[in-house]
Amino acid sequence: MNTIEQLKNLSDKVIIVRVDFNVPLKDGAIRDDNRIVAALPTIKYLLSQHAKVVLMSHLGKIDFKKTEEEVKAAKAKNTLKPVAVRLGELLNMEVKFSEATRGEELKNLVHSLKDGEVLLVQNTRYEKGETKNDPELSKEWASLGDGFVMDAFGSAHRAHASTFGVPEEMKKEGKPTAVGYLVEKEVKSLSRCVKADVHPYIAILGGFKVSDKIKVIESLLKKTDKILIGGAMAYTFLKALGKGIGTSPCELDQLDYAKKCYETGKIVLPVDAVVTDKFDEGSDRVIKTVEGNIPDGFEGMDIGPKTIELFKNEIAKAKLIFWNGPTGVFEQKEFQTGTIEVCKAITENKDCFSVIGGGDSAAAAKQFGYKDKFSHVSTGGGASLEMIENDGHLPGIDVIG
Ligand code: 3PG
Repeated sequence: MNTIEQLKNLSDKVIIVRVDFNVPLKDGAIRDDNRIVAALPTIKYLLSQHAKVVLMSHLGKIDFKKTEEEVKAAKAKNTLKPVAVRLGELLNMEVKFSEATRGEELKNLVHSLKDGEVLLVQNTRYEKGETKNDPELSKEWASLGDGFVMDAFGSAHRAHASTFGVPEEMKKEGKPTAVGYLVEKEVKSLSRCVKADVHPYIAILGGFKVSDKIKVIESLLKKTDKILIGGAMAYTFLKALGKGIGTSPCELDQLDYAKKCYETGKIVLPVDAVVTDKFDEGSDRVIKTVEGNIPDGFEGMDIGPKTIELFKNEIAKAKLIFWNGPTGVFEQKEFQTGTIEVCKAITENKDCFSVIGGGDSAAAAKQFGYKDKFSHVSTGGGASLEMIENDGHLPGIDVIG
């Protein structure tokens, strides 16, 4: 893997950096700038080497099958403009912004850059060819730079034009490519979960659907000693074992698969749950803890106290932990306890290397004040899962060489 410090003589060179600035926005305001902060070491290094830094990122999704009006609205909603402003504040310098995503206007802006300047290009997904890895688009973007740095770990599982086509083209043209500091750090930490040469190794999985996690469960069953299952996906497993789950979500087409996984003897399931008769918040709802079967008319919202003890016991013995997915609906105060206790137990185990695989569990760890106590918190949910599924391989990193 070529790393950023292997790039030489950067002064006056245009370096295209693929970052992942796919940040959560609400009414145009950035709700969490973690991914922007995470890209700073790479940007600052390139600036210190007097490079001209051109940043590219996607934001949200744009569905070109929709009407012209709807596409226009999606583009307006997913503008990277607020990110340019925030990045400027963090770097304490002007960050130029290109509304154009290709063509003369973009080319002229890139050519007008002086060394030590930063240009952020508007959302790469404004271009229809981006997610299709269109060769013409990749060629055009590649022609803008003298080298390429991949620092978008969260997008490294996408073989799109800006993550795959551009470095592939640059390599063909003999231009240098490398990974940035963030990707280097992510790969180093997640590789420990892929290699799985430290035991006991446990995974804690939550989230909504078993079907979303089939591949990662299959891979983790081979690598780990135990998989603790929480969150909504636990109810599919419990149903498969013939337990009553009330109105909790369940994927009926995954029951056989869940049963097969359980038969490996590695799956640890909840033995009690905090349940409610209404998902929506309101003072009139009933909330109670039940052991075993969940009664009709009630839905599981978090793991209960006995399950917390069960999970804590496994966590305390572990030397390596991979966690993806909260144990319950942590956005609602009444159902936070399981997720908080998992955070607490993992971070109290000082003998283990603990990795959060991005997504909601990273958001929960941040919200409850535990984020800095984990060994590594990934900036990529989908990417970290795919890295484990594919035995350490991601297209956007493999292409760098
Ligand atoms: C993410 O937020 O997981 C990454 O930025 C990838 O986004 P995508 O799923 O829209 O490709």
